[in-house]
Amino acid sequence: MWFLGMDVGTSGTRAVLIDERGQVVSSASEEHAAFRAPHPGWAEQDPEDWWRAAQIAIRGALAAAPLPHEPVAGVGLTGQMHGAVLLDKAGVVLRPSLIWCDTRTQPQCDWLHETIGYERLIELTCNPALPNFTLTKLLWVKEHEPEIFARTAHILCPKDYVRFRLTGAYAIDVQEASGTLLLDVTNRRWSSEVAAAAGIPESWLPELYESPEVCATLSAEAASLIGLTAGTPVVAGAGDQGAGAVGMGILQPGSVSATIGTSGVVFAATAAPIKDPKGRLHTFCHAVPGRWHVMGVTQSAGLSLRWLKETFFAGDNYDSLSAAAGKIAPGSEGLEWAPYLLGERTPHLDPEVRAAFAGISTNHSAAHFVRAVLEGVAYSLEDTFTLFAALGIPVSGIRLGGGGARGPLWRQIQAAVYGHAVEVLVAEEGGAFGAALMAGVGAGAWPDLDAACAAGISVAERIEPDPKWEAAYSSGYAKWRKLYPALATLR
Ligand code: XUL
Repeated sequence: MWFLGMDVGTSGTRAVLIDERGQVVSSASEEHAAFRAPHPGWAEQDPEDWWRAAQIAIRGALAAAPLPHEPVAGVGLTGQMHGAVLLDKAGVVLRPSLIWCDTRTQPQCDWLHETIGYERLIELTCNPALPNFTLTKLLWVKEHEPEIFARTAHILCPKDYVRFRLTGAYAIDVQEASGTLLLDVTNRRWSSEVAAAAGIPESWLPELYESPEVCATLSAEAASLIGLTAGTPVVAGAGDQGAGAVGMGILQPGSVSATIGTSGVVFAATAAPIKDPKGRLHTFCHAVPGRWHVMGVTQSAGLSLRWLKETFFAGDNYDSLSAAAGKIAPGSEGLEWAPYLLGERTPHLDPEVRAAFAGISTNHSAAHFVRAVLEGVAYSLEDTFTLFAALGIPVSGIRLGGGGARGPLWRQIQAAVYGHAVEVLVAEEGGAFGAALMAGVGAGAWPDLDAACAAGISVAERIEPDPKWEAAYSSGYAKWRKLYPALATLR
């Protein structure tokens, strides 16, 4: 038996087939049209484009799989979180989706905080209103396009729209639903109080499931379009952060991932919903039933290095930059990078602050700037670990993911800055792989996600922090923490 995982991302959709040993059989991707930004800060995509890409990616993964094919016994979905898809009562999409990185909704966030109260909203949903979250997007449509709002009968998140096209079901998992701001995250059910206060009829909300639960089956029409069998079970799945954590084996309370992609995410599995009263961390349901997770987000993590490379080192590649930075002593001789190219989420919740190099002197070479960027990004992720410590969130093991886990230097810097051994995986297959593991659990190949991860995930390397580096970074971090308050005054 094989299982199919699909990741409806922002730039494209990826399909991955795995076998009963949890090993990848094949994969394929199809790009999406770039999101539209008719005004600064807006970001819209057409749900129909996700469905087009999903069909191509699934057929591509099947075509790339070695013969003879085994039956695909389950499908799991993941994708970009938070996007709002509005449908009428016939299931027709009413307008393009406002996606996760659309930040037009600060006025709706302010309104929610005034109407419900900042602390009360955190009590009810475990999170404050951020422009990323789905509910704020629905409120924007209510205010600015009342004729669309009046025709709305169903709302879905991006991957759940693809599920709707695959199965005809209006369904969502509790991890994804946590990012809508309409979920009572503690009790894993919709929050009637928030829905009523915001004027969202509960009949619009999709049916809620735990991530590995089967929630629907492939329709005959969809099955013939994608080359699978009608009636194949589809599990609820999870948002990209939730499924990515499953794909890295971050399931047990205490296990943590630090992922450096464009943004940086520090994600911890927890036994209970641990809330930050100030709302600086996201507190969501985990894809594992009965568990939760917290996560902190650095807006410009890998993006800092890409920006530096493209702006100042156009002819170089990451390996040559990293080799040069490896010759510089930890601490970059006092040069510091505050990575706020796009403002910051955790811990500052400050979209306006901007990045800076500080402490430049005549002894600094180009390589110092590269090393300072690697260190400044790691310090920024360390800010989330500092919050974890303050909130009593345990950290027993750290796995590194994303591009930041590929270069040996950034791995060593991270181990020393976090003051903790870090692990890297043999193959990091991302969210689609996690969704495929969920499909395997739903189809009965493994009893639960712990067993699925034990089968499919193995550690390639464990990196201990160098004690000398750790000491340098401990004092470096204390000094670096003074940068944000100084930068926050520059506006
Ligand atoms: C999670 C988040 C992103 C999006 C897009 O809170 O904003 O991970 O899901 O990838």
